[in-house]
Amino acid sequence: MVKVAILGYGTVGSGVFEVLRSNSDVIQTKLGDELEVKYVLDLRDFENDPVTDVLVHDVNVILEDPEVAIVCETMGGVNPAYDFTKRALEAGKSVCTSNKELVEKHGPELLKVAKANNCSYLFEASVGGGIPIIRPLVTSLAQEKVQSITGILNGTTNYILTKMEKEGADFDTVLKRAQEKGYAERNPEADVCGYDAGRKIAILSSLAFGKKVAFDDLYTEGITNITTTDFKYAKQLGATIKLFGKCVHKDGKYYAMVAPFVVEQENPLFAVQGVFNAILVNSNMGGDTMYYGKGAGKLATASAVVADVIDCAKHIGKTVRIVWEDEKLELSSLDNAVRKFFVRVSTTDKAQIAQTFGKVSFLDEVVEGECGFITEEMTEKEYQEIAKKAGNVISMIRMDA
Ligand code: HSE
Repeated sequence: MVKVAILGYGTVGSGVFEVLRSNSDVIQTKLGDELEVKYVLDLRDFENDPVTDVLVHDVNVILEDPEVAIVCETMGGVNPAYDFTKRALEAGKSVCTSNKELVEKHGPELLKVAKANNCSYLFEASVGGGIPIIRPLVTSLAQEKVQSITGILNGTTNYILTKMEKEGADFDTVLKRAQEKGYAERNPEADVCGYDAGRKIAILSSLAFGKKVAFDDLYTEGITNITTTDFKYAKQLGATIKLFGKCVHKDGKYYAMVAPFVVEQENPLFAVQGVFNAILVNSNMGGDTMYYGKGAGKLATASAVVADVIDCAKHIGKTVRIVWEDEKLELSSLDNAVRKFFVRVSTTDKAQIAQTFGKVSFLDEVVEGECGFITEEMTEKEYQEIAKKAGNVISMIRMDA
């Protein structure tokens, strides 16, 4: 029997407790051993809840119990989760987490501590909730050179963009409705400004390329400036607009960013609707593989944590190897990235537009007095210089190639 402790009995922690109980039979069959929750740590008390029998309020009870082999850190936030995780690993206990903030900030260090203590630090649930993506990246694609990862990594923004497109409602209206339904936080900044997706693509880029890609170094643009007019233009192309986390390794250069993109129908991510997430990985031998599912939610996220618990239980006394060096990956400036741009300008003088932006494909008029068009491929730097010179750009959204 393998003894497990859960730190934090919130949404994900209580989900882990539930998954371990409800699916104990299948887990036992597949693992060939039993997983038993010995402790759940939380500051609160819970009446009439099965957790009562195993609830503790002092983390030291867990950290000092040699019987506990695996700890699920489902507290969230950097502190005290960092301290508890480090101490658990130093005590030789594997840690499984859904905590993207901690993983993004201290992943390489905690992986090193795990290795030094013959245990594991696993974080499948930190990106894409219930979608298996970390394990495919580090295991199933270990033989591949990853060339790009493009992900719809945030359910809240995908829900908002889907509603804007389908119902023609503006950003503020849809956000308010999403908040009422509990899909969006009362403070939606981390989601709508792209920070949540940024942390997730920072983790995926680090794993894909083996060195540290820090969220703070990424270009991050959210969806707050996307309008229903943009969707009307996109519709003419049979396209839509999605918030992408993206990392690319091309011609020896690495790029990573979060931004809205115009996405055409041929792209497999085009069809990903509502709160769902999906991640498209392109690698040099196998080509495209895509991973789709619920990016959030109690049981989906908890299920991914439990998958890690099973992996740790199969590797007691050993370390599940994950390569993520502390050394920073040198990211190329976004200025050098080449793509087409969808641009709206406050003039209808097509000759003048062509003179400034070069060869462009004009879209049909959507709003009187403005013009929408797609540029030819150019670098971001070239685009910025032209846009500055033009002085009449209303908005720009990058085209996904
Ligand atoms: N706020 C996140 C989302 C939750 O909307 O996807 C999962 O990290």
